[in-house]
Amino acid sequence: MQKRIFLTGTALAALSLVAPAVMAQADVFKIGLILPMTGQQATTGRQIEAAAKLYMAQNGDMIAGKKVQLIVKDDTSIPDVTKRMAQELVVNEKVNVLAGMGITPSALATAAIATQSKTPLVVMAAATSSITQASPYVVRTSFTLPQASVSLADWAPKNGIKKVVTLVSDYGPGIDAEKYFKERLTFNGGQVTESLRVPLRNPDFAPFLQKVRDLKPDALFVFVPSGAGTAVMKQFLERGMDKAGIKLIGTGDVTDDDLLNDMGDGALGVVTSHHYSAAHPSAMNKKFVEAFKKANNNLRPNFMAVGGYDGMRVIYEALKATKGQGGGDALLAAMKGQIFESPRGPMFIDAQTRDVVQNIYLRKVERKDGQLYNVEFDVIKDVKDPGKAK
Ligand code: DHB
Repeated sequence: MQKRIFLTGTALAALSLVAPAVMAQADVFKIGLILPMTGQQATTGRQIEAAAKLYMAQNGDMIAGKKVQLIVKDDTSIPDVTKRMAQELVVNEKVNVLAGMGITPSALATAAIATQSKTPLVVMAAATSSITQASPYVVRTSFTLPQASVSLADWAPKNGIKKVVTLVSDYGPGIDAEKYFKERLTFNGGQVTESLRVPLRNPDFAPFLQKVRDLKPDALFVFVPSGAGTAVMKQFLERGMDKAGIKLIGTGDVTDDDLLNDMGDGALGVVTSHHYSAAHPSAMNKKFVEAFKKANNNLRPNFMAVGGYDGMRVIYEALKATKGQGGGDALLAAMKGQIFESPRGPMFIDAQTRDVVQNIYLRKVERKDGQLYNVEFDVIKDVKDPGKAK
């Protein structure tokens, strides 16, 4: 009670001072970008923040009469922190849009806040299928694990890979990857002989890989989140799995462009499926990669960067379409159904599911101009999230 009186008194005393700022607030369009900037998923935050800033530098920050303001918060990839930050951004900052979401638990923890406050939540990284169903205010510009996994399960048996062991991080996206890969591979006449799950936090892959070596499948299918691929690759090679005739395959998270170039020649030939490669041969992507590197001390953009860049596009276009006057519901409506060219290729936001529909590419790690890249060799066009059919 005392505190409230004190606050009221202070607020009254300060009113004359803050009045111009409050008025100015109406002319500002705020994007609350919550990302893991430190901790295990820090590369995700670094990539998305850099991409969002690049988008703003390229497209300006005065849109439909509003000054666009990006407020970046570090949730350290702890979902309780994500939720608290979302709450503060909505209540105190009165953000127009929430965005970011480095991992699935962060997105799920924030969904209810988006619903209650009718604030669009643009998910730029997290990729468990069910996230879009957690709130009608979620719009996703990343990808889904079922999307990437089924495409690889179609490719594998046609390429001599029939017996597979799966190894995934033990949480939402890993469980999606395991399930959809196995279902599709089995449908195609292949077999998953063992499914292994490693903890998300501080994983030690060694004991799992030893087991895989003993099982001796044609291939090991891996999902680990962005940032963890190097450890998997290193231990896979150290154990001589490749020499034992076991192929490494996975969704493109394992040969993440953020890490790939430092993985060494042992990564050559690894086949993955994903929606984005820095080597995607389009004019738009070449420009994107060049500009991103130039602005970020030669850092190569990865699939997280592209999710952030396209997320900003979706927000900007919604702001334009609503002429700067739209509330959360109007902005959300203007996000649904957007169709455009991304550095990844063509994509669209399905108006029904609010999820991304996009090409999934099969890629092989090759050396190009002295550097390692995921070189695309096949494409499955306009893939909807297979998780939505269930
Ligand atoms: C998720 C996180 C990642 O880093 C990734 O590569 C894929 C999915 C997630 O938590 O949803």
